[in-house]
Amino acid sequence: MRTRPKGYRANALQSHKISLQKDTSDRKNAVVIPWKMYLACMPNMPVDRIYLSPPHLSPKAMEYLSEAVASNWIAPVGPMVTRFEETLKQYSGCEHCLALNSGTSALHLALIVAGVSVGDDVLCSTFTFAASAFPILYQKATPIFVESEVRGWNLCPDTLEQAILDRNRKGHKPKALVVAHSYGNPADMDAILDICDRHGVTVIEDAAEAVGSSLHGKAMGTHSPLGAYSFNGNKIITCSSGGALLCKDSTQAKHARKIAAQAKEPSLHFEHHEEGHNFLMSNLLAAVGVSQFEVLKERVEARRKNFENYRSKLQSTPGCQWQEELAGALSNRWLSAFFFAPESNVNALGWMEKLAAANIESRPLWKPMHTQKAFTGAPYYGNRLSEKLFANGICLPSGGMLTALDQQRILELMFDTKFDQIS
Ligand SMILES: Cc1ncc(COP(=O)(O)O)c(C=O)c1O
Repeated sequence: MRTRPKGYRANALQSHKISLQKDTSDRKNAVVIPWKMYLACMPNMPVDRIYLSPPHLSPKAMEYLSEAVASNWIAPVGPMVTRFEETLKQYSGCEHCLALNSGTSALHLALIVAGVSVGDDVLCSTFTFAASAFPILYQKATPIFVESEVRGWNLCPDTLEQAILDRNRKGHKPKALVVAHSYGNPADMDAILDICDRHGVTVIEDAAEAVGSSLHGKAMGTHSPLGAYSFNGNKIITCSSGGALLCKDSTQAKHARKIAAQAKEPSLHFEHHEEGHNFLMSNLLAAVGVSQFEVLKERVEARRKNFENYRSKLQSTPGCQWQEELAGALSNRWLSAFFFAPESNVNALGWMEKLAAANIESRPLWKPMHTQKAFTGAPYYGNRLSEKLFANGICLPSGGMLTALDQQRILELMFDTKFDQIS
């Protein structure tokens, strides 16, 4: 069994406990010694798993949770939900923010209030997680997948315009676009909004992974009429599960709030004139969310540092590529993602296997939506770049508690060699 010395931090779960009392920001306090020495000195303790993106609790989580419990607001309404929505407003600068039970619900609601229904065309990034596109199916609309551009791996504006024009030629007028900021990296919203304005397409930003990211100093999720956040357990900040809809238009916001609460009409009895959903966030989870926003800045710094540490060691490998930030963009680097072109001689899957054997979680890059069985028959536009990204890419552990020592160990395992100490 692999071992590590007692008292040295390598345990995400232990660190959670520490974080509840004091946010130690472990990377500052980490003892940096070579990993193999680390293993050699302690025969009896198992090495804990390093997760891809584990939750990272904030110092005030227990205090706010206790406050919520003590208040007896154990419901999908309550003071913490109100406070969370106020926090979202302050963070994003968006006037209408609705706390929800998931990012998927937020995207679904966005489509509903944008008027998407049966048979409508909805354009969508292909290089993303499936939850960007599933709500299109919930509305019985048609997803039209659009390829990424090579530098930022986000939706390609030129391909988007070609897709709209081709759909127009075939007699379809796409109603909406779901554009994802993949791994937190801002998409080219200036170009995308310009195209969509000209063609009358409503833009919905899937900023599920991009809380803490910005473009021209403006939070992602607020560049378009509608935006969605996720606070799922693997995100940069989390409520354990949860999401939010950001909405510029007050009528749409009011409609969204009604649908999210089972579309109840204002009457004493339960009266419903349209289909509703049960999408609201629990007051308990909102308490966790409030505490998480207090540490968002630190979390972004930590993830950006993780990414830079990996990049500093990987960039000398010929053919190594990563997501470039647009001018004026700041990515939260939610996941540190790298692609290796054929000349690199890197086998990303082989690396994943080595890491898995050492109890370290890593993942391939997104399998594009146009290649998923769930979306069989959906039209696709592009040059298949995302298929190449998927074929030999890797997302490395990216959590806010990852230490330089963890990263050194990960890189040494992948390359089977020693590296200079990462700081
Ligand atoms: C790009 C993207 N969109 C949507 C979602 C859905 O968010 P949730 O898991 O909160 O439903 C996620 C995350 O899971 C995501 O990564």
